[in-house]
Amino acid sequence: MAKPIGIFDSGLGGLTVARAISGAFPAENLVYLGDTARVPYGTRSAGTVVKYAIACAERLLSFDIKLLVVACNTASGVALAELQARLDIPVVGVIQPGARAGIKATRTGRIGILATAGTVASGAYERAIHSESEAMKVFARAAPLFVPLAEEGWVTGEVPELAARRYLQPLADVDVDTIVLGCTHYPLLSETIHRAAAELLGHDVAIVDSAAATAATLSTMLAGSSIAAGPPGSLQILVTDLPGQFGSAASRFLGKPVDGLDIHAIDL
Ligand code: DGL
Repeated sequence: MAKPIGIFDSGLGGLTVARAISGAFPAENLVYLGDTARVPYGTRSAGTVVKYAIACAERLLSFDIKLLVVACNTASGVALAELQARLDIPVVGVIQPGARAGIKATRTGRIGILATAGTVASGAYERAIHSESEAMKVFARAAPLFVPLAEEGWVTGEVPELAARRYLQPLADVDVDTIVLGCTHYPLLSETIHRAAAELLGHDVAIVDSAAATAATLSTMLAGSSIAAGPPGSLQILVTDLPGQFGSAASRFLGKPVDGLDIHAIDL
């Protein structure tokens, strides 16, 4: 049987990345691990997130994965180098692909990043963008309320719009022309963010989704793979806690109902 791709996130938000990967590579088998018992990672210290990330990666290795995708921006920001040093398989984070897509999208070289407090504090997006192009001006802002709003499915209307305007004002003040959604949850609020940003800036703005950018990055790694085409791959979901609202939250991030999927609660 073809080896699966392992994907992990602090919770269910990383299903946006699993969705993008399975959309781009429908024949791949995916094993997704959501650390729902310990979400959020975005408010925790870097040391704690590194510890949690290692535990998630080690569990996924027991599925004989061929490639590990760190779908969580916060974990990518603080733990990617440690995971790459420990594992014998390729380990891909979401930050470098998002950074590259941001550089590609900008015309003025002024890029805004919306992410968790942990990702912003790590400076990972600034480093990733400047490693590709030193001339870019990068402005990162934490947008913590977007995480519970996305989980709640409250992605349009008064409350998310108010939050978006508050978080985007500092990016409008420095006149960015591109905003990278540097958090698994934010793609669900993409329309609201886009509209609020365009209103505040007085011109259109490019919204870059790091989930889609990460899936595109995998194409070079999977191109030579014999299983890049074939019958539809499987999606197995592991979670460290299975709350009552799991089905509706998971289906929002995955973009389809999760009934009938292979879902297990595990301990880490
Ligand atoms: N998965 C996290 C990220 O992409 C968002 C949720 C959390 O704070 O754990 O940064």
